[in-house]
This record gives sequence, C-alpha cells and structure tokens, in this order.
Amino acid sequence: MSEVTLDFSHSSASAEDLEKYKEKTIEARKILLDGTGAGNEYLGWLRLPVEYDRKEFARIKAAAGKIRGDSEAFVVIGIGGSYLGAHAAIEFLSGTVKHPGVPDIYYTGNNFSTDSIISIIEAIGDRDFSVNVISKSGTTTETAIAFRIFKKKLEEKYGKEGAADRIFATTDAKKGALKAMADEKGYTTFTIPDDIGGRYSVLSAVGLLPIAVSGADIDVLMQGAAKMMEICAGKEFEENPALQYAAYRHFMTDLKKTVEVLCIYNPSMGSFSDWWRQLYGESEGKDGKGLFPACVTYSTDLHSVGQFIQEGSRIMFETILYAENSNNRIIIEADEENADGLNYLAGKTLAFVNKCALKGTAEAHEAGGTPGILIRFSKKNEFTLGQLFYFFEFACGISGYMLGVNPFDQPGVEFYKKNMFRLLGKPGFEE
Ligand code: PA5
Repeated sequence: MSEVTLDFSHSSASAEDLEKYKEKTIEARKILLDGTGAGNEYLGWLRLPVEYDRKEFARIKAAAGKIRGDSEAFVVIGIGGSYLGAHAAIEFLSGTVKHPGVPDIYYTGNNFSTDSIISIIEAIGDRDFSVNVISKSGTTTETAIAFRIFKKKLEEKYGKEGAADRIFATTDAKKGALKAMADEKGYTTFTIPDDIGGRYSVLSAVGLLPIAVSGADIDVLMQGAAKMMEICAGKEFEENPALQYAAYRHFMTDLKKTVEVLCIYNPSMGSFSDWWRQLYGESEGKDGKGLFPACVTYSTDLHSVGQFIQEGSRIMFETILYAENSNNRIIIEADEENADGLNYLAGKTLAFVNKCALKGTAEAHEAGGTPGILIRFSKKNEFTLGQLFYFFEFACGISGYMLGVNPFDQPGVEFYKKNMFRLLGKPGFEE
C-alpha cells in the first residue's frame, strides 16, 4: 500500500473535475514508461530503485563507514540537483536517525558567498574532515571554486596523499575535469549515470553517499522508492497518487492558477521543499509555461505571507505535505495560574495543535480562493522518504509531458553562466 495518500477535502475539485484529466495522465504515463517522449535519454531514474548498481551501493556504504570513522566534519560540495536531494533527506530524517559517530555535515559549492565559505571553514576548525565533491559535468563554477578551496585545506592538513584519501568525487563515469582530476590524484569516485539528470539523481550515488554518512538506512530508502515505483507504474488512476497529483496541478493550471505553494508544518522538511522546488521549477518552467513553485513553512509563514495567501492576488493553490503520525513527545501541561489562558489545551500534544492549525488554515485558504491538496504520509522515516522522492519525480515527469515540455532538460540555466563568464573574462566568452 502507498504510504503517500492525497486528500482533496480542501481542493475545490470534485471527482468529476479530476476525472477530466484522467485520460491525459494515463497517456503521459505511457509516454514516460515507454520512453517515447522528449528527453527520453534521461530516464535512468525510472527503474533506479530496483535496477541500481549493487557493487557501487556496497562501495557507498563502505565509504560512508570510513568517513564516519575518521571525520568529525563532512563537506558536501555541489549545486542544484547535485546536493539538494541529500540535503533534503538528511534534514528530513534528522531526529529520526540515531547513529554513533555521525560527523557534522556542511553544504557548500552552491553559491559564491564568501561569508558562507568562511563560516564553514571556521566551523570545521581543527577537526578532522572529509569532502564529497559532486558534479556531473565536473565544471560547474560554484562547485569547482569551493572544491579548490577545501582541497587546499585538506592538502595543508593531511598532505597530498592524505587529502586524496579524504576526497570522494561523484561525477561522470568518463568525462569532465573532475573525473580527470580524480583519476590523476587517486580519489575514490562514484558514478552519476549518463541517463540521470541532476534533479532526478537523489537515489544515485549523488544523494546516497551523503545520506549514508548521516547514518540513514539507504537500503530502506531504496525499498520505499521501489514500492512507490510499483504503485506509480501499475496502479489505476483512482489508486495512483502521482496521476492524481498531476491531474490536480493541471486542473489548477486551467483555472489560471500560476503558483503552486508547497506548505510544510515541520521546518525539518524545509530542504525537502527546496528539492521539490528545483524538481518542478527546472522541469516545467520553459517555453513560457509552468507553475511557479513556491515554498512556505507553516505556521511560521502564516505570520508573514499568510495575509497574501488568504486575500492577495488569487494566483495560487497549495500542496500541503504532512506526516500523519507526528512526534507526540511534547504534551501541554496545566498551569495553576493559567495567566496565559492556555489551560484549555492541557493534556493535548503540540502535534495536535499543529494539526488543528493545518486544518484551520486549509479551510480558511480554500474559502479565500486558495484551494489545496493534502499529501499525507504515515511518518518521517527512510521508507516514506523513498516513497516521497519517487512519487514527486514520477508525477513531475507526467506533469511535464501533459504540459507539452521536455521535463528533463534545463536550457535556460545556461544564460546567466554565459554573461557571468564574459564578465569574469573566461577565455572563449569575450565580448
Ligand atoms: O538538475 C540539474 O541538472 C542541475 O541542477 C545540476 O544538478 C546542477 O546544475 C549541477 O550540475 P553539475 O552536477 O554538472 O555540477
């Protein structure tokens, strides 16, 4: 059974509304599964949960064990699809994974901020550390600059050989500057398969090495993804959350909604929201089409953009992500004085309050013209996370094909690079 279910109670969509999109979702699924659509050279993620390289998987676990054994800090260097999945998983599972000797994990190579790099260097201090540099192309500027800086730090601390023992490069099997450097210096390397693009790569070595370092059980993660793969590929529309989600998004698009807001009620899912935002933004935002993917954390943001969502431009709908069995460890206690008037909550859990906030908000937003669907999953763990990753990837492929775009390319990302290279004086990019 799917751990991920959709609740349409505040969606402003009837069963008949969704039924209108059913055929289109089924056609799009056929195109995806048959590999007959645009970008079909990047479908390696489709069967990855069952067809992954077992030997590489074992090497990933061994490398993670080594890193946990000899490093107090672990630096993940990558941008976009090369780090967002790992960051999402590690934060999502924080508090649920308990493993001895997990190093502090830092993410860099995803911006050009001096402050950001310096703060990581300072946080590491004199502690032992290792680096995982992740880049499919091996030439991404943000990543390459950060790697140059942390490689030097490692070489200063451990010498060239010692540094090479602490550098793990996840990159193309054959080409690119990073691959060449890794071969020459003798770094341990992991492969990003040719047929998997960055934002669909979390279940490859790209995501798996950092996730394994965090102590999470990557076998269970893959099992969850495999379960969802079966559901997405095999289930009828009525029992298929990916087809229904794609249908709802297109129903909303036809109602002239232009922004999809992913809402979470637990800040530990913030990086998951960032992963989702890249997945949908890069996959669909092209040819003048697509829903703008926005993210909010509730109830925090009900006190910032909540006003807009309730009463501002009626351009959005919400996708609410919610772990049904939340942590029940905090119970509100009775207070003799009751000066704050909260005794009516005595004996209730904080999770119950959060759930009431969710229900109340969904009702209010629907009434105000911002409808939403609730994506429920049982609880935060590796199995449900594997299901969620695969669910959103599959639904994204379907949605992209329904929209008539190639969900697996990102031509627009090159524009800023060309201008930046010209301004930086990179050879070949002069005026
Ligand atoms: O999803 C994508 O394809 C991108 O976000 C890439 O992952 C990102 O640009 C990083 O590229 P690379 O792995 O080549 O350094």
